[in-house]
Amino acid sequence: RILIVDFGSQVTQLIARRVRESGVYCEIHPFNQVTGDSLRAFGPRGVILSGGPASVTGIGTPRAPQDLFSMGLPVLGICYGQQTMVEQLGGRVGSSDHREFGRAFLDVSGDCRLFDGVWRPGERHQVWMSHGDRVDHLPPGFSVVGTSDGAPFAAVADETRHFYGVQFHPEVVHTPDGAALLRAFTHGVCGCSGDWTMAAFKDQAIARIREQVGTGRVLCGLSGGVDSAVAAALVHEAVGEQLICVYVDHGLMRQGETEQVETVFRDRFNIRLVVRHADDLFLDALEGVSDPEVKRKTIGKLFIDVFEEEAKKIGGADFLAQGTLYPDVIESVSFHGGPSVTIKSHHNVGGLPERMNMKLVEPLRELFKDEVRDLGRELRLPETMVGRHPFPGPGLAIRLPDQPVTRDKLEILRKADVIYLEEIARAGLYDAIWQAFAVLLPVRSVGVMGDGRTHDHVVALRAVTATDGMTADSYPFDHAFLTRTASRIINEVRGVNRVVYDVTSKPPGTIEWE
Ligand code: XMP
Repeated sequence: RILIVDFGSQVTQLIARRVRESGVYCEIHPFNQVTGDSLRAFGPRGVILSGGPASVTGIGTPRAPQDLFSMGLPVLGICYGQQTMVEQLGGRVGSSDHREFGRAFLDVSGDCRLFDGVWRPGERHQVWMSHGDRVDHLPPGFSVVGTSDGAPFAAVADETRHFYGVQFHPEVVHTPDGAALLRAFTHGVCGCSGDWTMAAFKDQAIARIREQVGTGRVLCGLSGGVDSAVAAALVHEAVGEQLICVYVDHGLMRQGETEQVETVFRDRFNIRLVVRHADDLFLDALEGVSDPEVKRKTIGKLFIDVFEEEAKKIGGADFLAQGTLYPDVIESVSFHGGPSVTIKSHHNVGGLPERMNMKLVEPLRELFKDEVRDLGRELRLPETMVGRHPFPGPGLAIRLPDQPVTRDKLEILRKADVIYLEEIARAGLYDAIWQAFAVLLPVRSVGVMGDGRTHDHVVALRAVTATDGMTADSYPFDHAFLTRTASRIINEVRGVNRVVYDVTSKPPGTIEWE
């Protein structure tokens, strides 16, 4: 295993991605939680120091624990990580008038094990840089192995101690050989075997769940989404009948969703499943509500109440299993307000574990989304569930923007949505798209159908590509696809006479309309 010390770079998670892709398990720990003792307890074969927004030349800026450099562990410093390593070992870092941002070229000037099988002296390679400061003077034991226009010490190495530093970012795709360099570090320098696989993770996770849960009872809320589905399947494989799943149908799901959850979990996996049909309750509470935040709060609060009611009915449980993922738990290092934790609202059955005295079981805490999908496949969950697009907790309520939720409108929206997704699947585009859905707009437009004038609803179609949902681009369908889909929706869904396609990216738009 490898430890990544986070100094707050925007791309620290990518280091972890690249390391895991090479079959090596790793974790990211914020710099202010890493000490000599925590390092020894974690027991890594090597340490990677990430980049970060601070300047080593500033007073009181982050440092690696000094112990790290006397433990005999290989260290790779990236950008800020390189600079602090150099400074902590007796070298010097200064501000550069030649700042480099973006694509740059590195001239390989020396040999080192970091470049083994990847780069040779005399070659020139594209790398990605983002720095103002640079190393000016090397500590004893180090030599230069690569230079760039803006950084005379763009790559440095102390082969005896296995310390390496690069000014560029090997973790981003704009450094085409970056993944190979990281692999040379983890496999070649650190000696990791690269046998970390999802099958191995599954076995470890099952053993850990059994150890944590013992003979206790576990409750798990299913949402129809990937994360809770994988968490439930995993916990079930670990403790079988001790798991009880609860699924609350708030009446805002897409067509066929509740039935799919029942088929997969109850029929195929034989999991004890409580399905609570609470659509009347939710739709009554949402009556007359148009404001998006009020909708979200109403749904969120009611969801917790209903979930708690069901939990009590079955006599409570000792544990609550949740599909919390790695990006939700990594503490992002902030230099102004201290570390902060972000938790997705739809995973957070707020306050319930404390109120009902349940301990959390979070078996996916170390995984990224695509790793969760792999684990789901390993657990033999159906592809339709494992590969599905994200769906928001408040469901279709926020796809009826700026208008109250009614049964009639939900029905129109569901029908349009299912046709749109059918067409996407038929065109073989489902997996190329991050999320696709229909939105029913609160306007009526005039149309002509047959010999008559119509005055009906407008449906907007949305489809985006994204990697994490933080930014997104509208999907560039060809025109024939859009006209075919529009005509099916207008012909088959009564009450709709116009279809438009949303071409806004995020930012400035958001993925959902509200
Ligand atoms: P936005 O619309 O903010 O969405 O660009 C980013 C991602 O989050 C989902 N989303 C939500 N998920 N509760 C959720 O559980 C919500 O209130 C919510 N709002 C948006 C959205 O579908 C997209 O995947």
